[in-house]
Amino acid sequence: MRYARIIGTGSYLPAKIVTNNELAKTIDTSDEWVVERTGIKQRHIANSDETSATLAELASKEALAAAGITANDIDLIVVATSTPDKIFPSTACILQQCLGVNTIPAFDVNAACAGFSYALSIADQFIRSQQAKQVLVVGSEVMSRIIDWQDRNTCVLFGDGAGAIVLTADSQPGILSTHLHADGSHGDLLYTPNTLENTRYAAEPPYMRMSGREVFKLAVESLGNIVDETLAANKLQKTDINWLIPHQANLRIIKAIAKKLAIPMERVAVTVDKHGNTSSASVPLTLDWVIRTGQVKPGDMILMESFGGGFAWGSALVKY
Ligand code: ACO
Repeated sequence: MRYARIIGTGSYLPAKIVTNNELAKTIDTSDEWVVERTGIKQRHIANSDETSATLAELASKEALAAAGITANDIDLIVVATSTPDKIFPSTACILQQCLGVNTIPAFDVNAACAGFSYALSIADQFIRSQQAKQVLVVGSEVMSRIIDWQDRNTCVLFGDGAGAIVLTADSQPGILSTHLHADGSHGDLLYTPNTLENTRYAAEPPYMRMSGREVFKLAVESLGNIVDETLAANKLQKTDINWLIPHQANLRIIKAIAKKLAIPMERVAVTVDKHGNTSSASVPLTLDWVIRTGQVKPGDMILMESFGGGFAWGSALVKY
């Protein structure tokens, strides 16, 4: 049996930190409101010359160093982003050039906040089907560029950052299974308004629109179902899971999934307080943090999940 195994992780967060109190100077909100509803205390915000590709490059270099390999040892790059530098070339191709590697395949995946689950699943399929041996998988976002900083419903929630992992082919697990879903019928609950046509004629700025309550309800329901699906596919019980590494959108969503898994919060990785919601970067950023701080140990069973605009959602079960 051939598995994809994680051999290195890395991350990068822009230096600039914006606290809730700082946001409260320009919009009608408060630290108490944001912390109580979301668990978010601060977020990192990219400066004007940082992009998804520059963030991805720094996270990738850290992941490659942790894996003990160079960029030339990689044979595929998959970047999850919903805030690419350009429509094309892809952020993955820009990253490939920054890393100085040529001709290996490189492409972007856009599944909004679920992007990393999709990218990880694709990379896993490439390795299992022997089309790749070592894959760089990155989630990178500059959400600050698609936020209306006057809209208190959304601007308090998001942050910028990148997380990266290196996967290698191995006879030992590894990624045990991945699960993906989408439901386009809810596309109007979380979206950016622009098509190419109305970008050109600037009908509306490209800012995210969200129906928070509905998104919250459907996120909890869909993630609860995918947790069950992942356990059943692997014939595992809730008690077999050592770590939950959830998408970091809202502490209340995270707690609902932890309750569903009956996993204590000490075994749930939480970075939403420090990072806010970094969309497709949130899971790899959080994974890197629990690994670097020595909390996750080799052999631990990790369940990762994410949910976002589309709607799209996904999970992965990983033996670390
Ligand atoms: N500060 C103060 N008041 C606010 C703020 C704010 N930042 N934002 C909204 N409010 C107000 C609203 O205007 C509303 O006021 P009103 O009653 O006078 O109209 C009131 O607070 C309640 O608003 P609700 O939207 O009902 O508040 P809710 O408890 O649902 O919390 C929140 C809002 C935090 C957005 C929540 O719905 C949520 O987290 N939803 C999930 C959204 C999410 O995570 N999206 C990310 C992408 S998808 C994903 O990653 C899972």
